[in-house]
Amino acid sequence: TRILLIGAPMDAGKRRRGCLMGPDAYRTAGLGDALTRLGHEAVDLGNVVPDDAAVAPCPNPAVHSLAECVGWTSALRRAAESAAPDGVPVFMGGDHALSLGSVSGMAAVAAREDKPLFVLWLDAHSDFHTPITTETGNLHGTPVAYVTGRDGFEAFPKLAARVPIENVGMIGLRSVDPPEREALEAGNAMLVDMRQIDEEGIRAPLAAFLDRVAAARGLLHVSLDVDFLDPSVAPAVGTTVPGGATVREGHLAMEMLSDSGLVRSLDLVELNPFLDEKGRTASLMVELTASLFGRRVFDRPTRSYA
Ligand code: ARG
Ligand code: MN
Ligand code: MN
Ligand code: MN
Repeated sequence: TRILLIGAPMDAGKRRRGCLMGPDAYRTAGLGDALTRLGHEAVDLGNVVPDDAAVAPCPNPAVHSLAECVGWTSALRRAAESAAPDGVPVFMGGDHALSLGSVSGMAAVAAREDKPLFVLWLDAHSDFHTPITTETGNLHGTPVAYVTGRDGFEAFPKLAARVPIENVGMIGLRSVDPPEREALEAGNAMLVDMRQIDEEGIRAPLAAFLDRVAAARGLLHVSLDVDFLDPSVAPAVGTTVPGGATVREGHLAMEMLSDSGLVRSLDLVELNPFLDEKGRTASLMVELTASLFGRRVFDRPTRSYA
């Protein structure tokens, strides 16, 4: 597989700085080499530069860095659309606001191929705020709302194609704000919180989701937020929430995604190398990405998730 590494040193989606160092941390941790060793062709396309954007003031005064986020969104959407025909884009973040661009770009790609886009959101958070409902004003908490076409994103580029909410699967949830919860309950995304993972494991809900993607002949975009993982194993993130996925749950999810053959694009988001401990979070994210792209201890008969 040809894998296109796209640096997205975006830091505007929240107030705490540091995610802009993420792409270089992944490079330093050897992401490209890990993929090459698996037999892939990994091409580093360098870092995206945000567009200049002018916006009207947001009706919600808490929102900050709106123009920067809009400029990143249009630039990253173009990057996704231009890379996707040549390979599997991997967006090295950067905070989760980068998914405003990566996912909306992949939605346009899927629409052009006349296929439905599915989005797997591996995250402690649902990121389903709009610029109107967010209390923190941090736009990294909004990308799922944008790509599914909720109101309140007038300042952002018009979507070429909307991701239907029923095509969204969220796994790892343990921090959902009341307005997000209300809006999620009105839709039919697959919502898997940590309790469900404790009770059923991660395999059952993920297998069910992958079956749906395969049955619909869809494209799958995976958005992996560092805080999906437990902070004890992945400390380099500004929004830690205790009680997250283990290393083993993370690898199992990646291996299942690999077996499915459905993954068309990937975001690696919210890594803040300034908060890391000797690079362990960056290294774990590289290991997980390697599992997603086929690393195995032993070959075994591929169990299909279709
Ligand atoms: N829901 C919280 C907020 O609105 C946290 C969002 C965290 N998002 C993230 N991508 N880490 O600010
Ligand atoms: Mn997130
Ligand atoms: Mn999160
Ligand atoms: Mn909030």
